[in-house]
Formats: sequence, C-alpha cells, structure tokens
Amino acid sequence: MQYICKIDMLHWMIGRSHKICRKEGNMIKDYEDFKKFILQSTTIDLNAYKERQMKRRIDTLISRNKYDGYDSYSQAIKKDKKLMEEFINYITINVSEFYRNPALWKTLEDVILPDLISKFGENLKIWSAACSTGDEPYSLAMVMAKKVPMNKIHIYATDIDEQVLAKAKDGVYGANSLNGLPDEYKKKYFEKMGDRYYKISDDIKRCVEFKKADLLKDKYPTGCHLIVCRNVMIYFTEEAKLDIYKNFNRALVNDGCLFVGNTEQIINHKDLGYTFDKLFFYRKVQGI
Ligand SMILES: C[S@@+](CC[C@H](N)C(=O)[O-])C[C@H]1O[C@@H](n2cnc3c(N)ncnc32)[C@H](O)[C@@H]1O
Repeated sequence: MQYICKIDMLHWMIGRSHKICRKEGNMIKDYEDFKKFILQSTTIDLNAYKERQMKRRIDTLISRNKYDGYDSYSQAIKKDKKLMEEFINYITINVSEFYRNPALWKTLEDVILPDLISKFGENLKIWSAACSTGDEPYSLAMVMAKKVPMNKIHIYATDIDEQVLAKAKDGVYGANSLNGLPDEYKKKYFEKMGDRYYKISDDIKRCVEFKKADLLKDKYPTGCHLIVCRNVMIYFTEEAKLDIYKNFNRALVNDGCLFVGNTEQIINHKDLGYTFDKLFFYRKVQGI
C-alpha cells in the first residue's frame, strides 16, 4: 500500500513538473517578454517608447487591475477584448484639447497658413498625425475655414488607437476640451448639449478624414504642405523620433511645414532637412 502511494506520488510529481515546464515555456516572465507579447497580439512596438515611463505606466495598470504580474495580466487581456482596449487606451495617453497652446495656433493662423496658401494655393494637403480624439484636426479645419472655402478643406487625421478615433468621429466633447478655443469658433461650430457637452458641426466634420495608422510602421502620406504632430514624440525613444522626423521630411513637399508640440523642439533639425521658421514650426528645406 505504502509502495503504491509512493508510485502515485511520483506520477503526480512528474505530471506536475511537465505542466510547470510547459507553462514556463510560454510564461511572460518580465517586461521583455511582455513587449514581445504585445507586439505579437497588437503590432504595437513598445521598444520604441521610453522604457522607464512606459513600464511604470503598465505596472501601475496591472496592479490597479489586481493582477499579480505580466503573465496573469497577459492571459487576461488576450481573452478579454475590453481589457485589451483599456490597455491600448491607457498606454497611448490620449489627452488632447481644441486649440492647444493658443499662442501657437495664432501663429499658425496669422503667419504660417497665409504663407502656405500664397505658395501652394487653397487646396493644402494637411495631416494631423497622432490626432487623438479629433480636437486637433477639427481645430485645423476651423482655422482653415477662415482662409479658404469649406469645400476645399481636407484634413487627413491618423492615430494608432481605434477608441479615440471612434470618439473623434462622434464629435461630442466635454466643456473642458473647449477651454482654450476662441469664442468665435465655439459659437460658430458647436451646438450645446445639456450643461456639459458640445457637439461639433457637420460642416467641420466633413473636412476631416480619420484613419488608424501607426507612426512607427505604417506608410506615410506624400505631398503634404502641413504636418501637425504634437505631444506624442515625447513618449518615443531618440531612435524612434529620428526615424519619424525623417519620414515626415519625406512626407512633406519642399517648404512644407512641420508643427510640433511646445516641449518638442527639434534640436538637430538641420541634419534632418528642416529649417527653423517660428518657434515650434519647421520648414522642409531639402530631402533626406
Ligand atoms: C497626448 S495625445 C496628443 C494628441 C494631439 N496631437 C494633441 O497634441 O492634443 C498622443 C496621441 O498619440 C497617439 N499615439 C501614440 N503612439 C502612436 C503611434 N505609434 N502612432 C500613432 N499615434 C500614436 C495616442 O494614441 C494619442 O492619441
């Protein structure tokens, strides 16, 4: 009897160790494994994002959701679409607002756009890259509408996150998003919904085409006269930034303009084929 028990015990132990070995083979043990898992399951390459910042955010999300580590969290988001969406939404940091940093929008309105229109005509090709919930491309459409007829405005707006694009297409915003927007635009292009929400007009909506695209791997448009890419480069590694600035250069026509965020000055702009125009506005001077 004692002998049978020992054999049973041995079988149980062998079986268990097989199970553990099999499980450990696929186990997401650390951040390196987690990055590979995310690349395979979403195509998002976390290697291109600043590691300390990104890892801290992900660790916070995991413990907030009460998982005990990368492995259990990975299993959960693999199975649950909503959890996966929450993950993508959280890591991509979607904060945006209309007319963000008003003084820079004024420069765009008074100096940059008149110059671009005088050089390239009214049918400007404009790209809002990493457009989040649409506040930026819609602001562009409103400003452009002061300069050219509405039917000539076409703004291409892209982001990696499908959830923000859905919100952008919906066009409904909380009052806070409109804090920096001059009253003239608010009155002309928004309808108030209850106390706290504003709906953007269909005229402005029609000027913007939204599409999902990853700045790190998808094809860039060509022949752009203006690219607006703000408040996303801060999350990327130096290497990734360099590639993106080079790709923007190729996407722009000569003398086309790149409008960046107000903490995103391009120190080595000359090496990347740009000249400094106004603060946070660069012009393409040569192809690279
Ligand atoms: C902080 S928001 C900036 C929104 C807007 N440009 C602004 O300045 O108000 C950053 C946006 O970048 C997007 N993003 C992050 N990584 C991206 C990538 N690899 N390709 C395209 N968009 C990306 C996020 O989904 C997010 O909507």
